[in-house]
Amino acid sequence: MFDPLETQRLIIRQFEPDDWAAVYEYTSDPEVMAYIPGGQFTQDQARAFVTKSIGEHAEEFAVMLKDESKLIGHMVFHPWFAPRTNEIGWVFHRAYQGKGYATEAALALLDYGFTVLQLHRVIATCQPENPPSFRVMEKIGMRREGLFQKCIYRGDDQWWDECFYAILEDEWLKKGTHGSK
Ligand SMILES: CC(C)(COP(=O)(O)OP(=O)(O)OC[C@H]1O[C@@H](n2cnc3c(N)ncnc32)[C@H](O)[C@@H]1OP(=O)(O)O)[C@@H](O)C(=O)NCCC(=O)NCCS
Repeated sequence: MFDPLETQRLIIRQFEPDDWAAVYEYTSDPEVMAYIPGGQFTQDQARAFVTKSIGEHAEEFAVMLKDESKLIGHMVFHPWFAPRTNEIGWVFHRAYQGKGYATEAALALLDYGFTVLQLHRVIATCQPENPPSFRVMEKIGMRREGLFQKCIYRGDDQWWDECFYAILEDEWLKKGTHGSK
């Protein structure tokens, strides 16, 4: 069970069935979904996304803005291909980008991952053409470990490159105390 995480401005919590409309609001925006495989959601895809994200094996979490009680995006956080290893990711409503919310939510999840789940390593990936995403990775202390060239097939003979970032438990602990509040 994932207990909500509270930061200075945000609450990160499990999705609830009624969240789908708020999710559709930003996942139907082609600009927001430009680097998400599969692209923009239909209403049915937003409903399906929320439905599959509910429960103890949830891999995505809603991000609520405390002041406005508004769902402004979601965080991805789930086990990856090695013991005690998770992948982290983020998608936010365009109107709420550039205010440090993804960084704030990511720091809270790293804190939860390394202290509560006792993870060994957290990884993240993004396209090199998406600096807002890799800036978040850099701001939360992740290192760029590599650039995979033309590794994601987009159809029509189009391929995406992918940057790979990670942070180890030791590196997180060396950064000092990262309370989620
Ligand atoms: C990636 C995303 C989640 C970042 O969310 P956010 O809340 O805006 O992130 P933050 O405000 O914490 O940080 C964004 C950083 O990117 C920087 N940035 C934004 N646009 C930039 C650009 N074009 N070039 C360089 N840096 C840029 C910001 O200045 C900020 O860095 P700074 O604090 O050093 O100034 C958001 O842009 C988003 O939802 N994008 C669409 C979905 C997406 O692509 N998700 C990632 C898939 S891998």
